[in-house]
Amino acid sequence: MDNRCIGVFDSGLGGLTCVKEIMKILPEENIVYFGDTGRVPYGTRSAEILVKYTISDIRFLKEFDPKLIVIACGTASTTALDIVKGKFDVNIMGVVAPSAHTAAASTKNGKIGVIGTSRSINSGKYEQAIKAVNGDIEVYSKACPMFVPLVENGYLDSKVTYMIAEEYLEPLIKAGVDTVILGCTHYPLIKKVIGDIVGESVTLIDSGKEVARHIRSSIEAGEVEAAARHNGNRFFISDKVESFQTAAEMFLDTKINEPIEKIDIEKYML
Ligand code: DGL
Repeated sequence: MDNRCIGVFDSGLGGLTCVKEIMKILPEENIVYFGDTGRVPYGTRSAEILVKYTISDIRFLKEFDPKLIVIACGTASTTALDIVKGKFDVNIMGVVAPSAHTAAASTKNGKIGVIGTSRSINSGKYEQAIKAVNGDIEVYSKACPMFVPLVENGYLDSKVTYMIAEEYLEPLIKAGVDTVILGCTHYPLIKKVIGDIVGESVTLIDSGKEVARHIRSSIEAGEVEAAARHNGNRFFISDKVESFQTAAEMFLDTKINEPIEKIDIEKYML
């Protein structure tokens, strides 16, 4: 048994959708979450800046001696994971490979759609990961930059979200995809809108859920040791704490009883 924490980070609140899934299927695990609210969004940054931010986020979480670090952020996973992985003596996981595997196993007609931030889509990483599983699968990718601000502002089920989603998803529908990867932390919150537009015959893959399942499989395979008991989670952010709690509870879909702590992430920059 290994009671050390699982460190999870994201550019802000969105990674809590991943924490929610880990808490659901691995309730005994202890999570230390860092949301880089002072430097959000990551989705529009250059690759160079993202790698620097990712390194500082990992350096912060390393202070808690984690047994595993999860990059819950789609953008940091697509753009920085491969570069930073070898630099740290800790197991680091991103969201791309687990969702690519599930999508490849789920598609019946061999056509998968991927949606994410502009940076994630431009990286081509989801496509690469899917093709690595099965080179015959056709991948149709679409950046959906308006989804993050819509979710952050609470437009989860509104007319404007439907209108924008219709435009974004049209090429995927035309291509006839039967599976769509929600390659961004925020998209599970508008899963209903996306599902209504693409139709119920299309399988939606939630990347946070897939990484949580991947951790469980790694535990079952003996690659990561399970925690013996839950001692509590911790939440850190890099900007003001006020207003975080309510929004965070929306993403987590439960109350946060622990204090939310503010840190100076610049201290962890190389
Ligand atoms: N967390 C980011 C992602 O999953 C979305 C928000 C942002 O752009 O920072 O790609």
